[in-house]
This record gives sequence, C-alpha cells and structure tokens, in this order.
Amino acid sequence: MIKTKRPANARVGPARFGLAVLCLLALALGMAGLPARAQSPVPPAGGGGSLQVLHWWTSASERQAINVVVNQLAKQDIQWRDVAIPGGAGMGAAKVLKSMVLANRAPEVTQLNGVVFGEWADLGLLLELDNVAVQGNWEKQMFPTVWSLLNNHGHVVAAPLGIHRINSLFYNTAIFKRYNLTPPKTWDDFDQIVKKLQGTGIVPLAQSAEAWQLATLFENLALAESGPAYYRRLFVEMSPAAFLDARMLHILKRLRSLAAAMPQPVRERPWTEVARSMVSGEAAMLIMGDWAKGELNAWGMEVDQQFGCAPAPGTGDFHLYSTDTLAMFAGNYAHQPMQETLARLTMSPAVQSEYNRIKGSIPVLRAADPHMDRCARDSWRAFSKGPAWQAPSLVHRMATDDTTKDAIVAEVQRFFLDRNLSEEQTQKRLAAIARTLARNRND
Ligand code: BGC
Repeated sequence: MIKTKRPANARVGPARFGLAVLCLLALALGMAGLPARAQSPVPPAGGGGSLQVLHWWTSASERQAINVVVNQLAKQDIQWRDVAIPGGAGMGAAKVLKSMVLANRAPEVTQLNGVVFGEWADLGLLLELDNVAVQGNWEKQMFPTVWSLLNNHGHVVAAPLGIHRINSLFYNTAIFKRYNLTPPKTWDDFDQIVKKLQGTGIVPLAQSAEAWQLATLFENLALAESGPAYYRRLFVEMSPAAFLDARMLHILKRLRSLAAAMPQPVRERPWTEVARSMVSGEAAMLIMGDWAKGELNAWGMEVDQQFGCAPAPGTGDFHLYSTDTLAMFAGNYAHQPMQETLARLTMSPAVQSEYNRIKGSIPVLRAADPHMDRCARDSWRAFSKGPAWQAPSLVHRMATDDTTKDAIVAEVQRFFLDRNLSEEQTQKRLAAIARTLARNRND
C-alpha cells in the first residue's frame, strides 16, 4: 500500500542552516508536520477548480512553454492561477514563497527546483506523489538522476518538467562567419577569439553583473577546470580544502580576467537583455542555461541560422544541469486530486516533448525525443552518459541548500565587482563559508 499523505509523526529531517530558522518559525506557527489550514474555497474533487501556482517563468518562451501545461490542465477543467514572480533563477520567487508559507498562505503548487524541496518535505508540507509516480512508472521512465532528486526519504515530492544545460555557449553566427571563428572548445580557444575581435567594436562576451549570472560563469569555470569530481567536492561536499586548492585560485583569476571580454561597465541586466545583446550583434557570445535558446526561438531566431550553440569552453563532455520541477503543498489535502492530475500531466510524453522544445531544455524521459534540435540532442547525449559526467548546478539549487548557495553566489559577485579583494582573500572567504555552513548542516 502506497502512502500519499505524510504520517502525523513524520520525522523532521536534518536541520540545515537557514532552514533551521524556518523550522522554528514554522513550529511557532504550528505548521510543521501538521496539515496547513484549509485553502478556500474548497474545490470539488477532480476538475472544476483551480490551482494557484507560484513560479518565475515570465519571459516570452517561458510563458509559451508553461502554456502547454496550462492548456492541458484546462482540458481537465482545472484552471491554473498564476503567481508569477519575475527575476532570473527565481531569486525573488524563493523569498516570496518563504513569506507565503510563513503567513500560512502557501500556494497549492510551486516551481521549486533542486535539493531545497527536500527541506520543505522534511517539514511535512509537501504532498507525496507516490501513487502518481507508481502508476506512471516514473522510476523506469526518467533519468535516474532526476528520479533520485524527486525522492525524499523514499517519497516522491515533486513532478518534473525538464532538464536544462547550464554549460551552454551561444554565439552570433553572422559575427562568427565574418571573422572566420569557430566555437571555442577550450578557454584558450576563447582567448584567441577575444584577440581576433579586438578593435572591431564587438564585445566578445555578453554578460550581466547580476549575482546569479556572474555565478553562472563561475560554476562553468569550476567545471571546466577539473571536471565533475572536483566540482562536487566544491559545491556538494563543501570541502574547505577544495576551495583552498590551487585550482580555485586559477578559476578566480580566470573569472576576473574575463571582465576584459565583457561590455564596460558590466551592468546588472536581466538575462533576456543579455541574450538580446548577443543576437543583435553587440556581443559575439553568451554563456547561459539553454532557456536562452528557447527565448531566441520565441523571438523568431533559429539554431544554426541567426545563432549557434556549443558546450561552454572546457566542458564539452559534461552536463552542468538544472531540472525544473513542480512541488505541491499538501494543505488540508482538498486539492490533492487536481494536484495529482497536474503531476500526471507533466510526465506525459506529449507534454514533455512540446514543453521542452519551447523551453530550450530536454525531457526528463530516458527515451530520446525525436523532435530535439541539435543543441538538445547534444545535451541529451551528455546527460545520458550518467552521473560521472553530470554536475549539479550550484546557482540553480541542484548542489546545496539555499543559504550556502546564496552565500557563495554573493561572495563571487563581491569578488568580481571589488578589485581590491584578492583571489587569495576570496578563496579564504569561500572556504570559511564552506566550513561554517557545512558544520551547521551536520549539527
Ligand atoms: C529555471 C529556468 C528559468 C531560468 C531563468 C532557472 O532557474 O530553471 O526554468 O528559465 O531560471 O529564469
């Protein structure tokens, strides 16, 4: 017999730093392990009601992609009520979600990526989707990495939409043709392109100073430096020694030196604007998760026509991944039938194929989707090689908890913007974050 509801004595998992605060507040509000107050009005079982969904899919392609799900849901007579919080990588959405939960106004559904939904599940707040997963044979159908991500103490606590590749490089094909350039396989190749573009007025690398976008570059450099094993020691194991390693010094030096290839000054701009500066010809290249491809498609541009794609330098064999998932707040279980319908829908092969084609990502299904374009096929091949070739994105919450992630991301931005901070100082500060937060996690 599969349990869908969490037992009242559900164990509250290992307290993680930051989450501990949330736990205390949740306990104070009488929420942990107890069903949240009924959401009103209580809809009838099955269709005929609505689900409030919190997410950060606000760009043209993100909206189009999510409309695939919204329309399928409507066919089941379930209305999707939007709580869309703009802000790339969900930096704003994560804060709004915490406030809503603490105010006992949790949405019925939320975009919740990565290890962080284990934290919410440990508080007993998430609906377990075990029945849907068993009926849909999810374990067999999806990539093992995604399957284990969705599982929390043996229960499925989220429904997956797709897998993004964060180590993606996009380039302006007209510029590459004009200057006879080929996609850089290594960072040395990249330096050669920067040299060739000198004096042309073209910015080699489109970039924003937003913390998460700088950290995107940082995690790409970390993966290129020494592969997934070292990457995991840094961002999953949070090994202080790994941060003090000479390789980290090299990564930070490279990050700083890349400033010369960026627009001056490097301003805080949304990722959509940065992507636009690449296709408009102001910049030649962009390193960004492959939702950028989805966005360029939505603007009428096609792969290998107006723009090309390749793995980020030095990471061709690897897959720096982030998965998009929807978690459901249990509340008083009044919405369970509709929430389960939504979960079931996300895994339908037709939805997986259409949603991911528009979004720029790849389906979570092991079977290759014949409709994938060249970039998606490349992403699928790299991901299919298995965990030894995969690296969980720090920025997109795949590697560690939010508190640790936020601390590292902020430190990287500080280092990039403040020339007075040396690489060695930053290394020490990162190692200190790893030491303090890892200790808190294990307490
Ligand atoms: C999400 C993507 C989204 C991107 C830009 C990522 O964290 O996984 O679905 O398109 O942020 O906001």
